[in-house]
Amino acid sequence: MSVIGCGYLGAVHAASMAQLGHDVVGIDVDPVKIASLAKGEAPFYEPGLAELLTSLQSSGRLRFTTDIAEAKGATAHFIAVGTPQKKGEYSADLTFVDAAVTALVPHLSAGDVVVGKSTVPVGTAERLSEIVTAGAPGAYLAWNPEFLREGFAVADTLTPDRIVYGVGPGEAGERATAVLGEVYATALAAETPLIVTDYATAELVKVAANAFLATKISFINAMAEIAEVTGADVTQLADAIGHDARIGRRFLNAGVGFGGGCLPKDLRAFAARAEELGKGESVAFLKEVDAINLRRRQRVVDLVVEALDAEPFGKRVAVLGLAFKPDSDDVRDSPALDVAVQLTGRGADVIATDPQAIGTAGRLHPQLRFEADTLTALTGADVVVVVTEWREYRELDPVVVGELVASKVIIDGRNCLDAEAWRAAGFTYIGMGRP
Ligand code: UGA
Repeated sequence: MSVIGCGYLGAVHAASMAQLGHDVVGIDVDPVKIASLAKGEAPFYEPGLAELLTSLQSSGRLRFTTDIAEAKGATAHFIAVGTPQKKGEYSADLTFVDAAVTALVPHLSAGDVVVGKSTVPVGTAERLSEIVTAGAPGAYLAWNPEFLREGFAVADTLTPDRIVYGVGPGEAGERATAVLGEVYATALAAETPLIVTDYATAELVKVAANAFLATKISFINAMAEIAEVTGADVTQLADAIGHDARIGRRFLNAGVGFGGGCLPKDLRAFAARAEELGKGESVAFLKEVDAINLRRRQRVVDLVVEALDAEPFGKRVAVLGLAFKPDSDDVRDSPALDVAVQLTGRGADVIATDPQAIGTAGRLHPQLRFEADTLTALTGADVVVVVTEWREYRELDPVVVGELVASKVIIDGRNCLDAEAWRAAGFTYIGMGRP
């Protein structure tokens, strides 16, 4: 198989498929990324990926190239390139998907299946399938959305919780289903639920899943806003409603909100696509979901400023976390990075730290001041704010931190700390939606 696009999705997919015994070529236009992968090194931080790449080095089943012509001879061709938000608009930018398919078509043979994995607006697969069949008679297109989470990407790819394929009608659908059956033979043998459907449903499954998750997070953050004016505790509220199996406790962690390369831009692209389809009102609530989410970033900034008696200028703020979530170096639309940038903009003397994301954050915001060592970053702080719940921050000893900081104030933007322990060590502890 070939995997076109070797980012967080494609690189993990390529390595995991090789691990499952397939013969894989990973292709990307970025020579730096390809050089790193070809050496068996992960070009970004994803737990387990580096080990997987190293162990596959001598297998002969995984190679990487910048030459799309090397896709020739593969039967399944995965499209795993990014679909970022368009600049200045809410809709998805399909430039990379279109370019990948167009570049691939001349190298396809009859019987090949192009398998879209990227998250796309509903209607894209139908359009691309026409390009594939017109340019490569006998080749077909399928849409096979990906549900992996960063931080768990390898495990999610090797043992997915469900598999979805959207296929064309008749022979096209039969051929695509047969090829994907071989690709996912291991997971299917383990009775992973499989849903074979049409293109539109497969495309919508993906955006609906992310929209639902985002809605769940914003719901609990809306409850946090209400808790903040009533003295209620959103953490206990989440525990209590989460015991109802129909609701479930997962994705009910209130805090600084969601970020990353998927949830925020998928929400916006979905709302934009619904409007194009004349059904904007059906998902109008997603704009509210987005607005609640962005308010929580502002709330954290406001809490820091309040803790500094409304005079942030020149005050030392230790920002713990830059990645959009722990176990990742991804800072795309990261609430943590946003908080660091906003506080710097308000004149605070911000020192930001993160176990993995200083490099990625520094490339986007070279104006920020970074410190790799957590204890050094904490030294002399007038306020500490935790915005990514890395284990090392959750496990910080409040007594040790108390000896380093200038003023014992901690803002827990992820509700991930033991409030009592911090208070017992003399800290003013401020959580999100909890007293
Ligand atoms: C998300 C989905 O969870 C995956 O299923 C999907 O495949 C992926 O997007 C994608 O479309 O590629 P990911 O972006 O890796 O995965 O991260 P999540 O674990 O969903 O977390 C997203 C954000 O929500 C993070 O910023 C996290 O801190 C935040 N979050 C999550 C909360 O604020 N509260 C919660 O309770 C859970």
